[in-house]
Amino acid sequence: MEKKEIVEKVITFLEFQKSLGVKNFIITPSTKGQSVESASKSKKEMLDELRSTIGECIECRLHKERTNLVFGDGNPEAKIMFVGEAPGRDEDIQGKPFVGRAGKLLTDMIKAMGFKREEVYIANIIKCRPPQNRNPIKDEIEMCEPYLRKQIEIIKPKIIIALGTFAAQTLLKSEEKISQLRGKFAYYEDIKLLPTYHPAFLLRNPQKKKESWSDLKMVLTELGLPVPTVQKKK
Ligand code: URA
Repeated sequence: MEKKEIVEKVITFLEFQKSLGVKNFIITPSTKGQSVESASKSKKEMLDELRSTIGECIECRLHKERTNLVFGDGNPEAKIMFVGEAPGRDEDIQGKPFVGRAGKLLTDMIKAMGFKREEVYIANIIKCRPPQNRNPIKDEIEMCEPYLRKQIEIIKPKIIIALGTFAAQTLLKSEEKISQLRGKFAYYEDIKLLPTYHPAFLLRNPQKKKESWSDLKMVLTELGLPVPTVQKKK
């Protein structure tokens, strides 16, 4: 619906209510700040709608070699949203984020925090696998980022955990290294964001897991949740 059309509909509605003698309207928190169209839709419906809008995206070169576009996965009402870099081979085949070796470690990290994987939301900066898992190119990020922005806008998580350099630098518009960014809360729009190491990096550098766990504990504290004293291995 066009903006003008929405305004006209609202005016007609208000005039009708006035003619009935209605003087006050209560805007409830659930509808305040949402568009007229989105007010009645659940987050799941809005994400499903976004997924259909993206369809079989051909905006950048990555569509040519992908098997599946990897949209994102998890609870649309999640308090925590993890954002990674881009799908790898396993993710490309299954159409789901973080299902390979790095995904297994991410799932363990989520469990160690006291969550089930289905309780959080997981997405990537880039929705299609770069060939041979090469780093995403600037124009690919620019093309794909609006989809992630929209996902974040719909989910409205309390905290975003940016996994690795690309996620942290893209969301924070920063050029600092992940080793500099990690462990410090920043903001993405008005949402708290904590950068930490990417699980694939942790697989190659297991001695860094300690720092990553300390980052995840900061998130739990920020959410007012109990912090497990020992990192659970599941
Ligand atoms: N690495 C990522 O950054 N994302 C995935 O989905 C898988 C591996």
